[in-house]
Amino acid sequence: MNPAPPTSLASWPTPLEKAPRLAAALGLREDDLWIKRDDLIGLGAGGNKVRKLEYTIGAALAAGADTLVTVGAPQSNHARLTAAAGARLGLDVVLVFPGCPGGSRSGNLVLDALFGARVHWAGDVGLTVAAQEVVEALRRRGARPELIPFGGSNAVGARGYERAGRELLAQVPSLDLAVVALGSGGTMAGLVAALGADRVLGVDTGAMDEPAAAVAAMAGELTGAEVHKRLRVRSDQVGAGYGRLTESTAAALSLAARTEGIALDPVYTGRAMAGLVAAVEDGTVAPGRTTVFWHTGGLAGLFGHAEAVDRFESALPVFPA
Ligand SMILES: Cc1ncc(COP(=O)(O)O)c(C=O)c1O
Repeated sequence: MNPAPPTSLASWPTPLEKAPRLAAALGLREDDLWIKRDDLIGLGAGGNKVRKLEYTIGAALAAGADTLVTVGAPQSNHARLTAAAGARLGLDVVLVFPGCPGGSRSGNLVLDALFGARVHWAGDVGLTVAAQEVVEALRRRGARPELIPFGGSNAVGARGYERAGRELLAQVPSLDLAVVALGSGGTMAGLVAALGADRVLGVDTGAMDEPAAAVAAMAGELTGAEVHKRLRVRSDQVGAGYGRLTESTAAALSLAARTEGIALDPVYTGRAMAGLVAAVEDGTVAPGRTTVFWHTGGLAGLFGHAEAVDRFESALPVFPA
């Protein structure tokens, strides 16, 4: 059976911008480093999840859905963008989060509410089980729900990044390496399918136990090739674990902000930038090669991250000192 056509959620291509001051700060040549601005995708405050949702929601619509259900952490960018996509397409959205209401209500949660999504707090129930219960409850009420996978990551969603990889090659045919955050894996998998394993460096964010296996499985479904052993994954930026602010991530956020005026987030893109810094330091990324840092969005998560907000806000310099 042919895959369902993607639904259109944004305008393509996203910009590719040179980052000469960041390149110089890293010891690269000014023309070496580019940033792919998927943070500027127009839907729902932007980010990589939109590309995957074009495909996963395309499949849901083909199956007759009128309601989207998905799972994630309360600060999930994917959940926020599912809410935005549902609003754009006139679909109901139910987001299934762990825990109870009443915790932090900032960052992505504010946008979830703004986009009109409903939240099901799963308490201690596992997210997969809770999401299935929500789907069944919606069906009993006459709705036609479809489940969008965690992070939008399955082979269907990864097709969005297979297309993105081709989009990038049209913008920069001389590409040597794309550096990207690795969470649930669909983004890297799609890029590997389009660019080949050698040209993609994934920086593990600690979101999953076996990220390379997940990437290999999805890339394998897309290409039919076995890529596991050839994948390039850095796991030196996970630190104390998923979501925890590391020193190298905080430094990377400041560096990108102060050289290029670009805001990263503490969970994904800041870690990916810290991975790029480490890759330059150990010679993986060398001057004279064309490197693209993939900005996958996530800024809303910065405002939902108490530790990062405290750290940067308390460091605000005053004038006169
Ligand atoms: C801002 C941001 N960047 C990168 C990622 C990682 O993408 P993926 O889950 O496809 O590995 C995510 C989500 O997990 C994200 O929200």
